[in-house]
Amino acid sequence: MNSELKIPNHVAIILDGNGRWALERGLKRSKGHDAGFKNLKSLSNYILSCGVKVLSVFAFSTENFKRSKDEVDYLMNLFVNGFKNEKNYFVDRNIKVIFFFFFSNLRDDVISAMDSLEEITKDGTKGILNICLNYGGQSEIVDAVNKIILDGVKEVDCELFSKYLYQDLPMIDLMIRTSGELRISNFMLWQLAYSELYFTNTYFPDFDSHEFDKAIDAYNKRDRRFGGVK
Ligand code: IPE
Ligand code: IPE
Ligand code: MG
Repeated sequence: MNSELKIPNHVAIILDGNGRWALERGLKRSKGHDAGFKNLKSLSNYILSCGVKVLSVFAFSTENFKRSKDEVDYLMNLFVNGFKNEKNYFVDRNIKVIFFFFFSNLRDDVISAMDSLEEITKDGTKGILNICLNYGGQSEIVDAVNKIILDGVKEVDCELFSKYLYQDLPMIDLMIRTSGELRISNFMLWQLAYSELYFTNTYFPDFDSHEFDKAIDAYNKRDRRFGGVK
């Protein structure tokens, strides 16, 4: 990547289109999820190697439980096995993995696979890979409000409120959604407040380092004003 380019601090990706990627190849949707997971591994390393400090990815939404039991089970098994098998991949590349998730509904083995991956990668300094799994932006905000009530806090401002979110991450600079859908689907609603949005028709399993470079080129052409005047 051209070293003159501005690199966003926090990138978020709604990794969408795994199912259609597979169906267009005459494969089962599950094969698309396999390909998506494989891509996530190498792409996250590439993105954090470019100097991005935090990469948040939407791997499974609270709403994705509406899918068939077979598909949900397949995805949960993929997460459990993937997180176990790829531990060394992230440790060796110095990546710190964290998870944003809504606790209820998740299987114990999924929670323990997430816990172990977080624990073993906790000293990674290259960058943070934040995997949002059983995540919903509205639930994150409501969870924060409930913690505030429990703490007996009577008044909050934006800075204090952020501290009650799953983790106090920096605001998202660039949000990418693959597969041609033009919506947020309840992704990080608070953190997306002033993000640049980039939509591509490419399905996630094909969204590789070259596709990411194109998103960075587009980001570099944006004029971020944050309400000011240029
Ligand atoms: C994204 O791909 C992965 C998850 C939501 C788990 P999809 O499974 O949504 O793929 P499409 O959108 O049906 O093609
Ligand atoms: C959003 O994708 C959630 C994830 C990528 C995990 P979906 O495929 O579930 O979103 P909708 O249903 O098309 O909005
Ligand atoms: Mg989808």
